[in-house]
Amino acid sequence: MFRPTDIQKKALALLKSGAKHILLFGGSRSGKTTVLVMAIICRAVRYSGSRHLICRYRAKDARSSVLRETLLPGLNKTIGNRAYHYLAHESMVTLANGSEIWIGGLGDREQADKILGHEYNTIYFNEISQLSYAAVTTAYSRLAMRVPGCRNLFLYDCNPGSPLHWAYKIFVLKKQFLSGEPLEKPELYASMVLNPADNREHLSEDYISDILDALPEKQKARFRDGLWVKAEGVIYDQFDETMIVKAGELPETFDRYAAGQDFGLNITNVKIGWLADVIYVLADYGAYNMTTKSFNAELEARRWFDVGPDGFGFPVYCDPAGGERIQEITGGVKANNSVESGIDFICAKIERKQFFICEKCTGVLSEIWDYCRDEAGEIVKVNDHFMDALRYAIFSDVQQGIVAL
Ligand SMILES: Nc1ncnc2c1ncn2[C@@H]1O[C@H](COP(=O)(O)OP(=O)(O)OP(=O)(O)O)[C@@H](O)[C@H]1O
Ligand SMILES: [Mg+2]
Repeated sequence: MFRPTDIQKKALALLKSGAKHILLFGGSRSGKTTVLVMAIICRAVRYSGSRHLICRYRAKDARSSVLRETLLPGLNKTIGNRAYHYLAHESMVTLANGSEIWIGGLGDREQADKILGHEYNTIYFNEISQLSYAAVTTAYSRLAMRVPGCRNLFLYDCNPGSPLHWAYKIFVLKKQFLSGEPLEKPELYASMVLNPADNREHLSEDYISDILDALPEKQKARFRDGLWVKAEGVIYDQFDETMIVKAGELPETFDRYAAGQDFGLNITNVKIGWLADVIYVLADYGAYNMTTKSFNAELEARRWFDVGPDGFGFPVYCDPAGGERIQEITGGVKANNSVESGIDFICAKIERKQFFICEKCTGVLSEIWDYCRDEAGEIVKVNDHFMDALRYAIFSDVQQGIVAL
């Protein structure tokens, strides 16, 4: 038996509200994943032959935290362990009525093709603070399975990220992520806050008082109170909203242009302009699961390389690990990949107020306040695709002595 808490009952009601995209956000251990997984089990049982996907950034995290801690215990508690079959090599559960629940990672290439090769009735994006907007929207087209009576749904959950994160813009500000315009159909997007205090009955007595209350302020705001704030240990902490520039307020010409290119399942490009010592981040573009050739064709189609009064042509500094892919990018050359020196340089520019980002650069903005170090001082390697491209664009020039340090 699953007995939802009062707040989980409200979350279940939201799933029936007519909204198509439903986000549960809030502090840790508040019952978000549990209620969404239980809702998926109910849907799978109710709609024979339906298919549901649960995905997060890393497949191994999806298997450990969602599959083993929540889905399998949830199935055992409700339909019992004889009524389903777990196919470990497929990361998939089949029910006696022919329904399937798939588990996967959108950050793993071998997985991405496999899980995106099917159609689903529910796609649940777990811990979306780690997922890029491009990855999530690429998966959108897969919510196409038709099962009579079943209304297809996108479910999302996360601990809040920064107030510049794409999910905050869409679900809380109700704006389109890329254009900033109001959502066309805001009624299709619903969100709800669940906090640990709402799940007290299932937490150890001292969890809130001894662990969450003792966290540093910003972490407490996120993990206890469910607030969208800049994280602890943010690398570009000094960047503030006064450095976000409207497109119409950018200088008309620049001394030089450059771009940075990151490869991978999340492929990104960031274009910058220099005016004397000042850096302007002018444009960014990101895609998910796209070949380098197609990505470059997309940049060309966006007239990415046509800049300035003198026509076009500027270096595109590419992830040096890109190998042959570098030649597939117009103007592609190897970037400098000194991570720490590059970060120090950008921090110095931000401190001197010689660094501005155009408001159109949604990818860079969505990551900049979540790009952080862990307690050991290591850079957290999730949600950093635009951050790498940005650093390649800025620091490669500097290293070649084109710009004075
Ligand atoms: N209705 C319920 N009945 C029994 N246990 C529950 C219920 N809801 C949540 N729990 C338990 O509370 C704990 C936290 O739940 P869950 O993992 O769903 O929280 P979460 O909000 O997803 O946490 P995180 O932010 O860490 O991902 C788990 O141990 C879970 O089993
Ligand atoms: Mg969770």
